[in-house]
Order: sequence, then C-alpha cells, then structure tokens
Amino acid sequence: MTSLLFSPFTIKEITCKNRIGVAPMTRMSASGDSIPREDVLQFLITRAKNGAGMVYTEAIVTDYESAQGYPGQARILNQNQVDAWKNVTEKIRSHGAVSVCQVFHCGRMAYEGINPANRVIAPSPVAPMQENPMTGAPYPVPEQMSRFDMDHVVNGFVETAKGVMAAGFDGLELHCAHGYLLSQFLSTYANRRTDAYGGSMENRYRFIHEVIQAVRPVIPEDRLLLVRISNWGIADMDVSLFSDASEWQKMVRLFSQEPIDAISVSTYDFRLGAFDTGRTMAQITRDATDLPLLICGKIYDRKSAEDALADADLVLSGKSMLLNPNWVADIEANRELALYGSEEAGVAYTTTPLP
Ligand SMILES: Cc1cc2nc3c(=O)[nH]c(=O)nc-3n(C[C@H](O)[C@H](O)[C@H](O)COP(=O)(O)O)c2cc1C
Repeated sequence: MTSLLFSPFTIKEITCKNRIGVAPMTRMSASGDSIPREDVLQFLITRAKNGAGMVYTEAIVTDYESAQGYPGQARILNQNQVDAWKNVTEKIRSHGAVSVCQVFHCGRMAYEGINPANRVIAPSPVAPMQENPMTGAPYPVPEQMSRFDMDHVVNGFVETAKGVMAAGFDGLELHCAHGYLLSQFLSTYANRRTDAYGGSMENRYRFIHEVIQAVRPVIPEDRLLLVRISNWGIADMDVSLFSDASEWQKMVRLFSQEPIDAISVSTYDFRLGAFDTGRTMAQITRDATDLPLLICGKIYDRKSAEDALADADLVLSGKSMLLNPNWVADIEANRELALYGSEEAGVAYTTTPLP
C-alpha cells in the first residue's frame, strides 16, 4: 500500500503532490541588496526537484526599520528582490512543488546596528535574559512599541506580502513562533503591556489579528495564508510562553476564526508531550481547530514521518532537508537515516554550497 506520505494534499486550490515539505531555514547569506546568495536560492530549487511537495523560504524580514535580527537576512520589498525570488518560485513550480514564503519581524531579538534605523522595538521593554550569540553581548532593552510603531510594523508585513505575491509564491506564512515579534505579543513574559494588547489571551493576540486583517486582502483567495506557532522561544527557553494546554488551545481557536488557511506547529520533537497533557502538540492543536495542520520537529526517517502524519496533514523537516539532498527519495525507499544535530546544521550559515 502506498504511504499517506506520498499521497497529495489540497488546501483550497493548491495541491501538494505529497505530504513532505522543507521547513523554513534562515541562512544569513544576503549582502547589501538583501537577496540571498545564488547557491542558497538554488538549494530550495534542488529540494523541489528532488521531490519535496512544499518548499518554505527562510524568514524574510518585513522592513528596513527594525525587523531584522540576524546578519544577511533577506527582504522582498523592491523589484530586484521580487525578480530574484520570482525565478525561484517559477523553478519550484516547474518541479511540481508548492512555494511558501515565511515573513518575520524579530522584535526584541535584535541588536544595535543590525537594522538601518538602529532601533530595537518590542511589545514591552523586556530584554532577553541571555547574551546574544551573534554579538556575545547582552541584548539591548527594547523600546516599547507605540501605536505609530505598530502601524509601521503592520505596513511592513503588508508591503512584504505584496512583494511575496508579485514574486509568485503560492503562500505566505506569518512567523508567530520561536519568540520573535508576533510570538512576543502572545507571551505573558515578553508582553507586559497594560493596554488593549496585553493581559488576557485575547488582548495578547490582538496585534496578530490586526496583522492578519491587513495582510489577507493582499493575498488572493487562491493563494495561501499560513501561520507558524510554537510554545518555545529562541531566548529565555526556561520561560514557557503559555501557562497550559488550555491557553494554547484558546490561542489556536482565535487563529481559527481568522481568514487563514493552515497552522504550522513547530516543536523540538513532535513526539514529546505538550504541557502536562500526555498528548503531543499536534494532538492538542488538532483538538482545537479544523484547519489543515503542519508539524515539524525531529522528523527524520520514514517511521517518524508516518507517525507525525497521524496527527497532521503535512510534515516539515529542517535539518534532514538541509543536510540530505535525497531525503525524500530515502524516505520513499524506507532507508535507514541519521537524526542530525544542530552542530551539523551549522553548515547552513557558511559559504559552503549545499548539494
Ligand atoms: C539552519 C536553520 C535555520 C532555521 N531558520 C528558521 C526560520 O527562519 N524560521 C523558522 O520558523 N524556523 C527556522 N528553523 C527551525 C526549523 O524550521 C525547524 O523547525 C527545526 O529545525 C526543527 O526541525 P528538524 O528537527 O527537522 O530540524 C531553522 C532551523 C535550522 C536548522
């Protein structure tokens, strides 16, 4: 019997030929023009050619003001950037895969000098506790976002969405995970606001609602708007972003009322129990939504991919897709495969072209 992994999955009018996708991976390869290095773009095309049903870009920075958190990140805000990505989306499509562009604002995960406007903004003036691995220095205390800042950030998402659509992507994903700006709004730790954007889950969610409402009109009905969520952040790992499973599910229900097309759940390990429920993140998410679900985290061989698919519609892989160009074929052939660690993934940030 053919595995469900290799059967198509359709979201609205977009069909993935199989259930296997390349997770979003930042490569920090762009120079002053905010366009990734040619071999980094080629990597995405190669993964489509080699059988991935869905290919995500790295996290694309939404403005020239305060959105960038890492050196060499990319933007899709001018014609040259649109043209560079158009070439990529066309090739991905020619190989029968679906392209999704992830867009992000880093919020408090920035540092002095990384953004042209040299500002670090966040829901509240709360700096991450540990040092920034990029600089070896503490993160700066961010400025609390004003209404003007919030409007400016929303506008960055909208302008970037226009670029993403002009570049021909099948979908756009709002990065609401991993402790970056949108995730910071959701977090009771990073968001200490006492206005309509802080406090209750509904209030902490409000800014994301405004971003979705502004971005959706830019995305035609036949293309996809997705969100990525997680219950962990890059910084302050010991701080849970949500108090319990019911709070997580409340958030998932808020997302489900939006004009979005799918939810992508990012985990370290899809098998781990969520909060103290004894169920996985995918299971507790699925209990709270009818939207298509993508899952990621330690999916590295046929068995883990099939197990993950039991509670989701599509599986994404980061490190296996990064390090093994033949990963989809290897899964199909049910080969014994290695589980890669983060040290091996460090090659993503070097100038070594990936096969
Ligand atoms: C080099 C690298 C860069 C990443 N960049 C992003 C990113 O830009 N956006 C994002 O949502 N996740 C990012 N991630 C996380 C992956 O999408 C994925 O969730 C994570 O690697 C776990 O999946 P895995 O166990 O299959 O590697 C990155 C991971 C790696 C290894």
